[in-house]
Amino acid sequence: MNKDTVRKERKKRASVPELFGEKYRPQVHFSAAKYWINDPNGLVWHRGTYHLFYQHNPTGNHWGNMHWGHAISQDLVHWEHRPIALHADPLGLGYMFSGCAVSDEENSSGMGSAGQPPLVALYTSCTVEGVQSQSLAYSLDDGDTWQQYDANPVIQNPGVRDFRDPKVFWHEPSSRWILSLAAYDRISFYASRNLIEWTHLSDFSKPDGSHSGVWECPDLFPLNTESGDKKWLLVISVSPEHSTRDESVQYFVGEFDGSTFIPDDNGERWLDYGADNYGAVTWEGIPPKDGRRIAIGWMSSWRYAKEMPTYPWRGNMTIPRELRLVKGTSGFELASLPVREIEGIRTGIIEIPQASVGAAATRDIFCDLPPDLLDLDLHFKLPQGELEPFGIRFANGNDENVEIAIDMASGKLVVDRTHVGQAVPNPKLVERLEAPLRKGSESLSLRLIKDVASVEVFADEGRSVVSANLFYDAPFDRVETFGPDEVTLGGEVSVLASIWRERCSDV
Ligand code: FRU
Repeated sequence: MNKDTVRKERKKRASVPELFGEKYRPQVHFSAAKYWINDPNGLVWHRGTYHLFYQHNPTGNHWGNMHWGHAISQDLVHWEHRPIALHADPLGLGYMFSGCAVSDEENSSGMGSAGQPPLVALYTSCTVEGVQSQSLAYSLDDGDTWQQYDANPVIQNPGVRDFRDPKVFWHEPSSRWILSLAAYDRISFYASRNLIEWTHLSDFSKPDGSHSGVWECPDLFPLNTESGDKKWLLVISVSPEHSTRDESVQYFVGEFDGSTFIPDDNGERWLDYGADNYGAVTWEGIPPKDGRRIAIGWMSSWRYAKEMPTYPWRGNMTIPRELRLVKGTSGFELASLPVREIEGIRTGIIEIPQASVGAAATRDIFCDLPPDLLDLDLHFKLPQGELEPFGIRFANGNDENVEIAIDMASGKLVVDRTHVGQAVPNPKLVERLEAPLRKGSESLSLRLIKDVASVEVFADEGRSVVSANLFYDAPFDRVETFGPDEVTLGGEVSVLASIWRERCSDV
């Protein structure tokens, strides 16, 4: 080794604890090496690679100057950072707000050629004056570099202030592309044969669902029921910025005939009852032989995103989740669980034999677990009758703890983060979060992904989901179980490996 190589190697090593080793830095979730991110954009599976584009300010740790960042993955777990995909253009199109990408295999847009089909992005260009229109960009090198279509925008603003976040898919029965976008309090649907000329089809709006904030980031897609029937899902983020509610990604189950979406009912349903999942949308183009519908969200909330106490990055994505349509008490419901690829970062599995939550052996297994990176897959057996709450607690010697409690009496999954991080800059960061739980079962599953400063909780096979950031003062140093002796617990726990460990040097 010559001196130069040694110097370079030393520099590389020295940078490891800084980037991706900082306090609160997620180790099993995607974040940008530096600076602000929000919504996932352009989720597309293209020639064997999952693409994740995202709202990004490459010059600061605050929202603004929006570009599209880019990362790729083979397994939805390990991510490789790529160069910026769409650059802000303040003197022209403006800022690059949220949108989508599709693999234009037939070259319907004419932006590529038969031998070189383009990747096409439809996104919101927002001028410095704040006028939002939909624009098109394309890539001929699998997403590495992008050209803007020279006659942008492709959908002009019709005089609506909030007019954004296009999401496109190929609708086989009508042989055309369908685009959904959010226009203040409604979702507008458009159709096109070439991704360039769009015709307005219909609008979906009040009285359906929650209107506690502006509607954003729609996603319309089909999903099969457990018995194989096809339903259509419309997922919409409801801005919680000026609202008191925690949950913010709602969805509707219904029918789409190629022009109009008709929901089965107009009730409120939420993909996640936690505070930290916003702008969630799904990947397009996953091959039919895989057949999964996979969503990812921005793991934050507009209620406090700008005050998240992290540096030099701010914001990360949720764990990618596979969506399933299950029969609920009132119609179909979406259930979600972490993608199976997470198993690839489990470092050995510890079996937990079914025993009382309070049994010494169970307590010992949990006590020995390092609480920062864990995948818990637990099954509780429940006796008949009234039950005290039971669950899992992460705690430290600093009197901080977060309790994940199952309260069967009230039918609730509770993530109580009120005793975490009393020094946080915004009290909303430490609120108690609750999700409804089906009552009356004799058993209950609880899956939990614990990252350094967050927990994602999937109860009842993913029917009740809560995602929560946890900005502690001191790291947690133990995991505990709690609850009445009659409740038994079994399952598997695994310590997870950091997804950045082997690639800290190349970011
Ligand atoms: C949602 C959102 C989108 C918009 C983007 C701007 O979080 O407000 O509606 O396109 O963020 O960054």
